[in-house]
Amino acid sequence: MVSVHSAVSVITAKRDGGELSDEQIDWVVDAFTRGEVADEQMSALAMAILLRGMSRREIARWTRAMIESGRRMDFTDLPRPTVDKHSTGGVGDKITLPLAPLVAACGAAVPQLSGRGLGHTGGTLDKLESIPGWRADVPVAQMRRMLADPAIGAVVCAAGADLAPADKRLYALRDVTGTVESIPLIASSIMSKKIAEGTAALVLDVKVGAGAFMKTAESARELATAMVELGTDAGVRTVALLTAMHTPLGRTAGNALEVAESVEVLAGGGPADIVELTVALAREMLAQAGIPDVDPAAALADGRAMDHWRAMIRAQGGDPNAALPVATHTEVVTAEESGILTRLDAMGVGLAAWRLGAGRARQGEPIQFGAGVEMHAKPGDTVTAGQPLLTLHTDTPEAFPVALETLRDAYAIGPAPTSAAPLVLGRIAAA
Ligand code: URA
Repeated sequence: MVSVHSAVSVITAKRDGGELSDEQIDWVVDAFTRGEVADEQMSALAMAILLRGMSRREIARWTRAMIESGRRMDFTDLPRPTVDKHSTGGVGDKITLPLAPLVAACGAAVPQLSGRGLGHTGGTLDKLESIPGWRADVPVAQMRRMLADPAIGAVVCAAGADLAPADKRLYALRDVTGTVESIPLIASSIMSKKIAEGTAALVLDVKVGAGAFMKTAESARELATAMVELGTDAGVRTVALLTAMHTPLGRTAGNALEVAESVEVLAGGGPADIVELTVALAREMLAQAGIPDVDPAAALADGRAMDHWRAMIRAQGGDPNAALPVATHTEVVTAEESGILTRLDAMGVGLAAWRLGAGRARQGEPIQFGAGVEMHAKPGDTVTAGQPLLTLHTDTPEAFPVALETLRDAYAIGPAPTSAAPLVLGRIAAA
């Protein structure tokens, strides 16, 4: 039967600047999920949405339709409040690794469905898969047991194929049609998965800067506002922090390198920026979960978060004591002159790590767990001519020349210190 909502009429309505009705949105998302709307038609609609935008009502309805294309999980019967965090992605962003067990150690349950990396930003699952034995696929019954267990309380795993399947298909099309950078499509894509995941509260870490999706504070604020509205309208307590992503987070970019750095943070050490952001996000998560009086900094310093990390890794088959994979080849970049490191670009470091084998260019490609970039200095540090600035790690040394070329303009050494930029740039809560 030919529907009254033919794909062409929906595409042309948006192409000409119209607002799609609830019925048009429900129909087109459902018909696309069933294969009745062809990939080329959905691609054309995605481009029309990118060019014309969507109203708040349209974004909310589109998100709802994507949630309803699959299964919605429900953790309301758990004995602890659920809260999750989502980051829009950055270089060296390993915050989920210490954060999930930390928030669990403070009394909340953290159900985190994560993804694999594509391009210059890494994926949380790729990082965790560098731990020998660790498995990303966790059946829902096991997720529930892990969340309810007071010694674990957190699970970081892959989303099942039945969670917002319309988004999975649409994201694959956007990736190859130049339609990723649409705020309504990014907001609905992220929030459909987070709402379907069944968390009662959510903290968003919206990255701003050259190494992020959102290059300006204005666009990051617009995306954060759209996502906070979507979460709030769906009954999920949602707040967003805008955080800087000009320079990589911490001192490593690459899967096993980032796990090792996260374990340092869980042991009470680690780079100051990782500790600061982990604690800031934990405070927001605990407040959203209704337990604002527990101090996450204390739980990080006294080893409680580490206990939850070890239990969480073990519950997913991993050995928290096992040696992590190490790349077979390294190459050191040294400072050409003495001075202050004034710049170290997230995008350059992320692309170099990717070229060294830490990331993938196409979905499903294998990655090297030991590959990546170690940073021995960060902006503001004093460096001396000849001292190591970066160590590049890879199993494929033929990648060194292109990675070195990528890094050539990614840093600068100057005579004067630059003023330290704040990490947390803003906070967006429901109006
Ligand atoms: N991450 C998502 O899940 N969806 C987007 O559209 C962009 C980033």
